[in-house]
Amino acid sequence: MRSSSRARATFAAVVVIPLAATVVTAARAASVLDFDVWMRAIDKHSVDVQKNIAANRTDAAVADAQELARLYGLMEAYFVDDGHAPDAVTMSQSGKALAAAIPTALAARDVDGAAKSALDLAHACNDCHDNHKPFQ
Ligand code: HEC
Repeated sequence: MRSSSRARATFAAVVVIPLAATVVTAARAASVLDFDVWMRAIDKHSVDVQKNIAANRTDAAVADAQELARLYGLMEAYFVDDGHAPDAVTMSQSGKALAAAIPTALAARDVDGAAKSALDLAHACNDCHDNHKPFQ
């Protein structure tokens, strides 16, 4: 009995409280706080997509690229709403286009083209960071 009430308390702490926090966050527009989550995911997938392309793991590479395109789309929407950084909107759009080009290239068996898009995307991170990281 005691262990099950402890389990319930743990469940509340681990599952219910973060869920409540997520609902509150979702009700607002994207905030600066979302950036850390997006950026860590962008960081991971931009490395993984290059590895997966090089290893001919096409399905995994396509999944990474689709997630990158989604995340760059969220970032684009953030900077559009923000209205103060048109260059960051443009950089988000070009990153999204590079990510979207990867599945297209892989579908055409253009592995070199896919690898080049992934590398160009990874090389463009600092263009945005130089101007916008950290948020002022
Ligand atoms: C269009 C703009 C833009 C692009 C492109 C961009 N970033 Fe960022 N990134 C930011 C901003 C803005 C921050 C600072 C967020 C903050 O201060 O909370 C940031 C922060 C980060 C951080 C730190 C996150 C943390 O936990 O504090 C990492 C890691 C990162 N970016 C990785 C990347 C990588 C890797 C790429 C390219 C594959 C990339 N970013 C592309 C705007 C961008």
